[in-house]
Amino acid sequence: MIDQAKQLREKMMQKKPKKERRQTRTIAVTSGKGGVGKSNFALNFALSLVEQNRKVLIFDVDLGFANVDVLLGRSPEESIATMVEKDLSIWDIIEEGPNGLLFISGGTGFNEMFKLDEAKMKKFFDELSEIQGHVDYVILDTGAGLSDENLRFILAADDVILVTTPEPTSITDAYSIVKMVHVKDPNVHMKLIINQCTTEKEGRQTADNFRQVTQQFLGKEIGTLGYIPSDSNIPAAVKKQVPFLLAFPNTYASQAMRKVTGEFLDLPVPYKLGIKGFLLKMLFK
Ligand SMILES: Nc1ncnc2c1ncn2[C@@H]1O[C@H](COP(=O)(O)OP(=O)(O)OP(=O)(O)O)[C@@H](O)[C@H]1O
Ligand SMILES: [Mg+2]
Repeated sequence: MIDQAKQLREKMMQKKPKKERRQTRTIAVTSGKGGVGKSNFALNFALSLVEQNRKVLIFDVDLGFANVDVLLGRSPEESIATMVEKDLSIWDIIEEGPNGLLFISGGTGFNEMFKLDEAKMKKFFDELSEIQGHVDYVILDTGAGLSDENLRFILAADDVILVTTPEPTSITDAYSIVKMVHVKDPNVHMKLIINQCTTEKEGRQTADNFRQVTQQFLGKEIGTLGYIPSDSNIPAAVKKQVPFLLAFPNTYASQAMRKVTGEFLDLPVPYKLGIKGFLLKMLFK
């Protein structure tokens, strides 16, 4: 028994990587309307950052729907929910995806996390804090809309990427998110991605209109990170369960994604709270 326990402990220790000193930044990818392409954006943006030698962890927090797992064709057994339930370490539940991309899923019951007892909450906090310094970016693939949980992630992240399509319904719902977030905290950094554009001109017009409306009615400037064209290779990649950046590296959407990533990496880096700041804001706000 003692031997077994010792072996297990050693295995656990091996799993825990050496502490690195990266400045971890959290990015929430969100949208007003569902189905606009958040998960595809989040995953392929993450892989595009990996191409640029960044270390990235994607955290699927879309409560109830395991989007990233499906897009990767994976079905991990463990999640944040089981980590807390079974008292596992964060390193036990982190999966390695293509090109060294790390990912974890919230899992069923993650929703209940926020109503957990204090000991479980502490476990969640302590384990997630361990990620600090190990990756450059934690990308959160959130659910759509104005749920309390979604708002929590948006308000806690260092950066927020708001995905919309040029469709009026998607734009109206994106505006509702901006309005709600602005009321709660006018200092949230939000950037727009216009997905599924027919032409770049259409994307630019959509972004310009959006900026004008938020400026006029909220006095808030929403910058644009970029445009991703409507590309039939995206649904094709989804069917293959291979991220489009890998399945079709030279398709229009992949080229646009690399452009977006370049723009993102060129942005001035605002004050970073990192994962601990994120957790504090998320849990105690
Ligand atoms: N640029 C694009 N061109 C063509 N199809 C796209 C594009 N972006 C996304 N899609 C398609 O839209 C569908 C929804 O994408 P995705 O699952 O990423 O959206 P989502 O916003 O994460 O949805 P949910 O709100 O349900 O989580 C997918 O089937 C995908 O193939
Ligand atoms: Mg999704």
